[in-house]
Amino acid sequence: MSGSSATVLIVSDIHHAGPAEQARRGYELACAPNWPVRQLIAAYRGYYWLRDPLGNSRFFNAFLQRAGAADFVVANGDYSADSAFIGVADDAACASANECLSQMRARFGERLHATIGDHELGKTSLVGGKGGLRLASWERTVGELALRPCWQFAWGRYVFIGVTSTLLALPLLLREAPADEHPAWRKLRAEHLATVRTVFASLSPDQRVLLFCHDPTALPFLAELPEVQARLGQIEATVIGHLHSELILRKSRLLAGLPPIRWCGVSVARMSTALHRAKIWKSFNVRLCPSLTGIQLLKDGGWLTAQLDAEARTPAKFKFHPLPWSEVA
Ligand SMILES: [Fe+2]
Repeated sequence: MSGSSATVLIVSDIHHAGPAEQARRGYELACAPNWPVRQLIAAYRGYYWLRDPLGNSRFFNAFLQRAGAADFVVANGDYSADSAFIGVADDAACASANECLSQMRARFGERLHATIGDHELGKTSLVGGKGGLRLASWERTVGELALRPCWQFAWGRYVFIGVTSTLLALPLLLREAPADEHPAWRKLRAEHLATVRTVFASLSPDQRVLLFCHDPTALPFLAELPEVQARLGQIEATVIGHLHSELILRKSRLLAGLPPIRWCGVSVARMSTALHRAKIWKSFNVRLCPSLTGIQLLKDGGWLTAQLDAEARTPAKFKFHPLPWSEVA
C-alpha cells in the first residue's frame, strides 16, 4: 500500500479436499439413482465441469506460492469439496475448509477477509436429492471456521462489503433445508438483512463500494432492499464466485429472463429461478472471480487482483491471473 494505491487479491471456489474428503472418490456418482443417470453425470463432470473435484489441492498450493503481495485479500466462499452435500456439518468437509482457511490465514494474516459460500452450508446433490442446507453447518461456519456473515471495512474512498448469498437468496434455497430448521433459517436471514441494510444506509454519498457475494442468485434479493437500491450507483464492482468460469457467466447472461423450471428437481429449479432474475445483475457491475481450476472443458481458472486508487479518481483496475493446468504439479 503506497498511501494512494492498494492491491487487492481475490480468490474464489477453492474447493480444497483434505485427506478425509479425498478418500471419497466417486461420491457424486454414488448418488445417481440408475445407470443412465450415472453415465450422464460422468460425462457432464468428466468433459464439462470438473473431472476430479477432489484434486484441487495442487491448484490451491500453486495459488499460495504464486500470488504476489497484496494489501487486502478476499476469499469469496466455497472452501471444501462438500462431498457429503451437507456443508461443514460433515466432519470431513469441515476439516477441508479448516485446512484451507488456516493456510490462507497463515499466509495473509489480518489482511484476509472471507465470505461464506453455499458449500459451507450444504447444497443438495445434482442428482439423487442428497443433502442440503444444515443449521449445524451454519453453527460451525460462524463458530469453528470463524467466518463472518457480513463484514465491511473502508480504505480511502472505498468500502469493502462481504455478504452471505445463501441467507439473501434463502427464499429459493429453504426447500433444501429440513422443515424443522426453517424458522431458525428465517431468523438468520432477517438478522442478516437488517445488518446489510444498516451497512448500506451508513455509506456516505462519496464512498465507492466493492461488494463481495459468493452466489449472484442473491443479487435480486439485495436489490429489493431500499438502502441497497438507493446506493446501487455507488457499487463500483460486485465480485461473485460460484460460477467457476466466464463461460458460465456468459451463458447466464444469455439465458437471463428464462422462466423458472420447477418440475425437474431441486437443482434445476434453483438454477432456472436464478436465471429468471439474472437481468438485475447488470446494475451491480458483476465481475466473476473464477475457481482456481476453472471448468474441465476450458481449463480457464485463476484468480483476480484489483488495483485501487484511494481517491477513486480512476475505477478499480481488475486483472485476471490464469493458472494453467500444465504448470500445476
Ligand atoms: Fe463453488
